[in-house]
Amino acid sequence: MENYIKKILASQISNKVRMKTLLKITLFSSFCITFTHCKYDKFRPPKSNLTDRQLYDSCKNNSSLVYYKNDSVTIHSGDNGPHGAFKLKFNKIAALALTDGGKLPIGNVFPDGSLIVKEVQSNGLLAFMYKHKSFWLWGEANADGSTVFSIDSDPTTACVNCHSQNGERDLAVSFHHY
Ligand code: HEC
Repeated sequence: MENYIKKILASQISNKVRMKTLLKITLFSSFCITFTHCKYDKFRPPKSNLTDRQLYDSCKNNSSLVYYKNDSVTIHSGDNGPHGAFKLKFNKIAALALTDGGKLPIGNVFPDGSLIVKEVQSNGLLAFMYKHKSFWLWGEANADGSTVFSIDSDPTTACVNCHSQNGERDLAVSFHHY
């Protein structure tokens, strides 16, 4: 009898330990999930119905784009970026926000629907940012429209970490350099 009680007690204790361990594991994993999720989502826009192709088409739609400082001639060196020499274009929604001598005023943000297009001179690559529900969609397309970096990918390490550099204005960095 005594042995039997001992056994029950022992199994209850080990159950308690097991429950505690389980609780610890659950808490720890939910912490990890929340943490990585928040980090992941910080710059990641909510799912949109837009496609890479649609945004590529907008980047090619020259009639609705204007050059940075209305200068279609100047090729910027791109010394500070990963793409090399480039020209810069804005759609009309974005251009309306450029009220500080052709730049976005410090502290301002581009409105939804803004499109910024970096035309890379060496190979015609288009790197672009499109404002959607207060987030930027980040993409890259080859000159022929094939996708290099999809707007559905996580842009945090590929684009945003570098675009968060000193002098950024709403994560756009050209204003600081040119
Ligand atoms: C290593 C840093 C770095 C990375 C990574 C980077 N960029 Fe940039 N990007 C720049 C810099 C610097 C400029 C300013 C122009 C220049 O000097 O090339 C720029 C300019 C741009 C512009 C013009 C608007 C602006 O911010 O001035 C676009 C659009 C752009 N990048 C898109 C992208 C996309 C899309 C990605 C990711 C696929 C990306 N960039 C990754 C540094 C970076």
